[in-house]
Amino acid sequence: MVQFNKSVIDLIKQRSSWRAYRSGPLEPKVLDALKKHFAEDRPGPFNCEARFHLITRQVGDVGKARKIGTYGTITGAENYIVGVIKQDEKALENFGYLMEETILYATALNLGTCWLGGALHRDDLAKEISPAPDEYIPAMTPVGRIAEKRGIQDHILRWSVRSENRKPWEELFFAGQFSKLLKKNEAGAYAEALEMVRLAPSASNRQPWRILQEEKKPFYHFYLQRNSLYGQIAKNVLQAEDIQRLDMGIAMCHFEKTAQELDLKGEWTQATPPAIALPPKTEYCVSWRGR
Ligand SMILES: Cc1cc2nc3c(=O)[nH]c(=O)nc-3n(C[C@H](O)[C@H](O)[C@H](O)COP(=O)(O)O)c2cc1C
Repeated sequence: MVQFNKSVIDLIKQRSSWRAYRSGPLEPKVLDALKKHFAEDRPGPFNCEARFHLITRQVGDVGKARKIGTYGTITGAENYIVGVIKQDEKALENFGYLMEETILYATALNLGTCWLGGALHRDDLAKEISPAPDEYIPAMTPVGRIAEKRGIQDHILRWSVRSENRKPWEELFFAGQFSKLLKKNEAGAYAEALEMVRLAPSASNRQPWRILQEEKKPFYHFYLQRNSLYGQIAKNVLQAEDIQRLDMGIAMCHFEKTAQELDLKGEWTQATPPAIALPPKTEYCVSWRGR
């Protein structure tokens, strides 16, 4: 199990997406810590294959054409963590969990990161990390010392997706059915784990997680409420697989790590979700059964 040198609740609050970096290589001590982390055996909640690579980019070698993609929004970064998965039923959720764990680990090393999942130049990346035919690169992140200021592109992007804001508790968490809101006191000790889901990063800050608590039990059903932005656009323009499933894995990571920190025991399970009416574009993902 990945051990953080700080409270995970503090790390979740500390993390935010950074797009401007100080140039220069990472210190050997930091590189060693990252490599050690990559070497850890981490099957993830769905036990799917995934691996991580650290690649370097000289600042300035990003060709003009690439700037229309995700690379153009990041300045100064020389190191990137790139993830690769084998296609599998829950591989995207599993990867979301593992990559967020890595991002929190980097945060604990006082490094900046930024999930990059859209418009990646997957062909260029593939030249460096040679994925097998049944492998896929879901996302990457720059990793490095953050610049003193965010930079204009970062400000524009944050403003356009309202990165500083999160949906209120009432839009995300429900009791027994989707028409009944979950009050914080009804969640008891799990209120903090839910709050850490609320603070999670998500693609374009769409926050697609919806969580239903079974009546008065520490039994939480996680649902994905899809956003139309990520329908065909994701496939055709971003050339990314179902990016919002990564968000579900991120939510699972925040929930589970917070529960562990608070000594709340439980496990993930593919349960039969309650037979209730679902809001539009909402589908079941996974459940947490607290003990
Ligand atoms: C799966 C995923 C994909 C993302 N892809 C991109 C991206 O391609 N480019 C980018 O600049 N930010 C990307 N982001 C960052 C989000 O915009 C950011 O997490 C969100 O606005 C919330 O801001 P915060 O991370 O600072 O809390 C992505 C985030 C996630 C979780």
